[in-house]
Amino acid sequence: MDQLVIRGGRQLSGEVRVSGAKNAALPLMAAALLSEEPLELDNAPRLVDVRTIGRLLRHMGVEVAGEGTPTIRLRASTVRRPEAPYDLVKTMRASVLVLGPLVARIGRARVSLPGGCAIGPRPINLHLMGLERLGATIRLNQGYVEAEAARLKGARIAFDLQTVTGTENLMMAAALAEGTTILENAACEPEVEDLARLLNAMGAKVEGAGTPTIVIHGVPSLGGAVHRIIPDRIEAGTFAIAAAITGGDVVLRECRPDHLEAIAAKLEEAGVRLQAGQDSLRVTGAGRARAVNVRTQPFPGFATDMQAQMMALMTVADGRSVITEAVFENRFMHVNELLRLGADITIAGNTAVVQGMPALLGAPVMATDLRASACLILAGLAAQGTTVISRIYHLDRGYEVIERKLTALGADIERVRA
Ligand code: EPU
Repeated sequence: MDQLVIRGGRQLSGEVRVSGAKNAALPLMAAALLSEEPLELDNAPRLVDVRTIGRLLRHMGVEVAGEGTPTIRLRASTVRRPEAPYDLVKTMRASVLVLGPLVARIGRARVSLPGGCAIGPRPINLHLMGLERLGATIRLNQGYVEAEAARLKGARIAFDLQTVTGTENLMMAAALAEGTTILENAACEPEVEDLARLLNAMGAKVEGAGTPTIVIHGVPSLGGAVHRIIPDRIEAGTFAIAAAITGGDVVLRECRPDHLEAIAAKLEEAGVRLQAGQDSLRVTGAGRARAVNVRTQPFPGFATDMQAQMMALMTVADGRSVITEAVFENRFMHVNELLRLGADITIAGNTAVVQGMPALLGAPVMATDLRASACLILAGLAAQGTTVISRIYHLDRGYEVIERKLTALGADIERVRA
């Protein structure tokens, strides 16, 4: 298994290109199931999760080409096997995104129920509730969700909490339903909006994506499309903190500053200087950051996917910071690892109190999930001495060549075989 070895204390500087968004690419690829015609997705990130959903789609009979390059081509002329097996779903929960498109296109689906997760229980009850509201019958059989419907029928669906992949699943299902669907309290994430853009390019009639009310007028069939995936706002935010935590000066290229507003506001409050261009963001660390309080929220609030990275910055900030995780129940697995680097953090329920220290000291640590891995890299970049991160396979699921991008900015980081 690979490890990352980081010798901390170097200021980062230069330019880094932000890759296409993982959490946009996955639903966009699943949308290929909705049409017989080809889809072409540009600006695709080279990630393990993208390969996993590619494997899943191929398993169902979809032609998939170009993973590992910036252009992925997909064509679901026929769907031979409308099934997402446990082996694939257990490695990537986003596999559940095939459920809505399968029921809508071919009237049935068999999708393994995702099991537990390192960041919380993460049920999919709202995905299932929504499909039932659209007329599907759902049953659980030997760990699999089995869904069936002759043709889905539009309905009003009110989510009792905002769910990103739940909104995406139902938006895709409703695109081919008969009549109009209204999703209320829908997720407003840019990735939801990106999916709506693709669906509309395929001939769907989706209005209001990016707001809490999405109206979908169902159409009988969808065509092909060419679509450019939005930049990854979480990767961009992670590099912004890399600049801040090392007192560096980094320009993020090909990003969307309008998707980064909550992160930017917190960084500015912490004393980090930001300069937004049309599709770039310059981040300049000015001495030690000030402690700020953070509460995670659905978009446009501060993203839970940036909580661990922000905590890394707060471990070396001046003062005491209160970080509240309000989206997931158990997303503080990185805290015990940060303690090994000398951080001062106390957890009570979903709140972490971080007393900033003048410095961290490198140590061996273990990554527990994707964003926790990113947090440990950031802490390692700031720490004195050497930090060795193991279990970095999580990282390859969601960050494209992160150590190469950091090396190009002047970090001393290398991937080694354990
Ligand atoms: N929830 C339910 N029932 C449901 C669905 C969600 O109770 O049926 C709860 C969840 O347990 C959680 C909250 O609702 O407490 C929000 O979860 P959501 O459904 O929005 O999360 P998700 O769609 O499973 C996506 C991202 C995650 C990101 C979250 C929150 C993808 C593929 N994944 O997950 O990304 O953390 O939204 O923004 O889009 C990551 O990239 O590292 C990652 C975990």
